[in-house]
Amino acid sequence: MATNPAPEAPLDAAFYQTADAFFAQNAHTGLTFDDVSLATLYSEILPRETNLETSLCDSVRLQIPIISSDMDTVTESRMAIAMALSGGLGLIHYNMPERQQLSEVSRVKNHVHGLIQEPIKVAPGQLIGEIIERIEEKRFSFSTFPVVDEQNHLIGLLSGHVIKQRYAARKVAEAMTPREAIHAIRQKDLSADPIECADRFFNDHIGIHKLLVVDDEDHLCGLFTLSDVERITQESRAQLKPARDAKFRLICGAAVSATRGANGELDKERIAAHVGALVERGVDVVAVSTAHGHTKGVGETVRLIRHNFPALPIIAGNVTSGGGVEYLAECGANAIKVGQGPGSICTTRIVAGVGIPQLTALYVASRAAAAKGVRLIADGGITKSGDLVKALTLADAVICGSLLAGCPEAPGQIMEINGKLYKQYRGMGSLAAMKAGSAARYGHSVKDTTRKVAAEGVEAVKEVSASLDTVVTQLVGGVQSGMGYLGAATLAQLREKARYIRVSPAGQRESAPHDVIEVKTGAASSQS
Ligand code: XMP
Repeated sequence: MATNPAPEAPLDAAFYQTADAFFAQNAHTGLTFDDVSLATLYSEILPRETNLETSLCDSVRLQIPIISSDMDTVTESRMAIAMALSGGLGLIHYNMPERQQLSEVSRVKNHVHGLIQEPIKVAPGQLIGEIIERIEEKRFSFSTFPVVDEQNHLIGLLSGHVIKQRYAARKVAEAMTPREAIHAIRQKDLSADPIECADRFFNDHIGIHKLLVVDDEDHLCGLFTLSDVERITQESRAQLKPARDAKFRLICGAAVSATRGANGELDKERIAAHVGALVERGVDVVAVSTAHGHTKGVGETVRLIRHNFPALPIIAGNVTSGGGVEYLAECGANAIKVGQGPGSICTTRIVAGVGIPQLTALYVASRAAAAKGVRLIADGGITKSGDLVKALTLADAVICGSLLAGCPEAPGQIMEINGKLYKQYRGMGSLAAMKAGSAARYGHSVKDTTRKVAAEGVEAVKEVSASLDTVVTQLVGGVQSGMGYLGAATLAQLREKARYIRVSPAGQRESAPHDVIEVKTGAASSQS
């Protein structure tokens, strides 16, 4: 660990305080990210040398401390796959039928990076002319297709060089390269690192650009293309490592609700069956996600899951007090979510008059978490990478909603408003989301949503942003810069070294670009 060769100047310690000193001195004021700044410290650490690894418990290790929120406009399988590939974690929301949530989890756990699992296929009886029409209609950028029979057995490969108007009246069966002449690999022979395996194949087979994957009965399971494999191997040299489980599968989390039956009692059988099915699908962690986690219902749900699945990592929340952390830790949670009302789409503080500004809540919760030996997750209110750095001085990981909701990997259609592209982003406590299933999270039953219940979230839109890996790379870059300024090589050192100071309103204005006409923002956009 780096050591400062010069002793700390006395005024530094008086002005730039440790978390314990700073938050004790500001004990009666709720502070959030923009209210504080972190002091620069002597550093021997370059941003690129920092290590952002974290864990939610001994068995769930992340390469980066970022989790995508279990919201129906943020995390389904596509987002969860992209998050895990970037080294983080996606929590699949529960505003969908249980069966669908199970298949979303399966998609993540069965995802093989670079393997096109549902390639466009053609049938032997089709005419080449039909294939040409389809390519034009769908604007495919490729023109080589596996040929399969009705049972999906691989029977040939239709190469781009035979897809020509002059052969339009010929059948695929006449023009294809037959099965015995094409290369395919058995799915079970893909090593723990399928990309490396495909890369080796393309090295060994000069001029071949497609590698087909089949099962033991020769059913087509997918294909690798040389261009995808080259892109991925190049990217993997520069980028963070994916977050994987012990079997080399991408990690995946899923939210579960404290479901109640018609009599208002917890539906223990249903919760246990749902979690059991998630475990069967390979889920790495479940999150008991509610707006008020310091409650009997959430505690009982956590206890139930802990009892039935002793080794399953559990995230629970949300709380904003030391008492809430202790309670959920004693019920068996491994990681506690902190945040009541900081979210960009939240109206809890306005509607219920309840909630604590996020940095103060994190400090109070962090001391209880350390005493109980559980991890802490900062949930909501992150609007820029600097907020992430501040949150990580007190928490082990951070949940983001709004920062990721504009990514193409988030669920939902793109809409155009006045020439700009947007995606829907709504609070799970908005009336529309509660009707879709999240009512229990806010202590209501779905039936209540047909009557008047007080919504605690708004429906909004987010401008379409760049892809998830670009957004995450920028956030990670910001965290690494912050760690460099504090001389912290690891997140543990960041927590230990952080020194805080309060920022005046003028100081806050000074912190953002000012007195200039901005022509280019630093934000990741779809155009960048
Ligand atoms: P950000 O700021 O990242 O926050 O958009 C996402 C987090 O906000 C929480 N959440 C809500 N809180 N009413 C609330 O009070 C809501 O309708 C709502 N929806 C989401 C949630 O913790 C999420 O991760």
